[in-house]
Amino acid sequence: MDITGMHVVSVDDNQSNLLIIEAYAKVLGLEVHSFIRPHEALSYMLENRCDMLITDYMMPEMNGIELVKAFRNCDTQTPVVMVTAVGDNIALHMEALEVGVTDFLSKPIHTSMFKARLTNLLHLKKAQLILQDRALLLEEEVNKATASLVAREHETLQILGKTAEFKDPETGAHVARVAYYSKLLAKELGQNEKFQEVIFYAAPFHDIGKVGIPDSLLLKEGKLSEGEFMLMKQHANIGYEILKTSKSEYLKAGAIIAFSHHEKFNGLGYPSGLKGTTIPLMGRIVAIADVFDALTSLRPYKQPWSLEKAFDFLVSEKGGHFDPEIVECFLNQRDKVRAIYKQFQGEE
Ligand SMILES: [Fe+2]
Ligand SMILES: [Fe+2]
Repeated sequence: MDITGMHVVSVDDNQSNLLIIEAYAKVLGLEVHSFIRPHEALSYMLENRCDMLITDYMMPEMNGIELVKAFRNCDTQTPVVMVTAVGDNIALHMEALEVGVTDFLSKPIHTSMFKARLTNLLHLKKAQLILQDRALLLEEEVNKATASLVAREHETLQILGKTAEFKDPETGAHVARVAYYSKLLAKELGQNEKFQEVIFYAAPFHDIGKVGIPDSLLLKEGKLSEGEFMLMKQHANIGYEILKTSKSEYLKAGAIIAFSHHEKFNGLGYPSGLKGTTIPLMGRIVAIADVFDALTSLRPYKQPWSLEKAFDFLVSEKGGHFDPEIVECFLNQRDKVRAIYKQFQGEE
């Protein structure tokens, strides 16, 4: 393993000792930064690359033990070599090891001893750096792969959502607007970003159950007979059946929305006649987004309502068809509703 170019910080209050260490280290191809004052070495090491610290023990301002202690507070891995004089006792060595000194050199420093110790320790340090690099690289790769999986899942959901509406007179633009209105409402209601994201991708599945309804009914221009309407109502249950076993949080939410988007706050909706807040929140939100968009869209059998007329309709159904609190949220965001409405014009 090549150790040339690695950075060594050397601290000694005696200039000539520093010069000796510099000379030895340069033979090994190392970059040496020498300091007479331990404090300066410490602040240098906090901001710069340091692959090894070589420090004297006996220094006037701060001894080697104190320096290593301070260094170890922010770096527990970089090897530290302490240079000790003959006569330094075992107790000192013990203390040095306890504060995190890795190895010792004794004065006068013997050149081959110096070379052997530094080479060993720097090999270890280099191995650590390589491992760290690899871990970082791996983390980056995993993040990239996860992001692309999420993007692909979102794309699949959008395509599936569009497919669900394909044979329906409702259009792709309807599906997109319902998704945007629903997200807007979730945000205005104070729901967190995850909820907003889930409802955005799940709302387009509200009518997926229509794939199980005969075309003759879906495309019928006049009013549905009572029997036909009974059949049409089945789309809520069919949608739920299609999606309910999915492991995807988006499709699970889609199942709940499919099942509950025709429930009414006053309990007169279908398929279960759920009332008030027993209707799942996502269902109450999508109910408003879906009806508002159906009213303001052109259909083979009707002209689009003006946004104002549709807002008034929501107000008239506060506590009737719709959750009054969510209607208020929608009205509070009229400007954003208008912007979403405009954004998808001409895509019918
Ligand atoms: Fe529906
Ligand atoms: Fe719809």
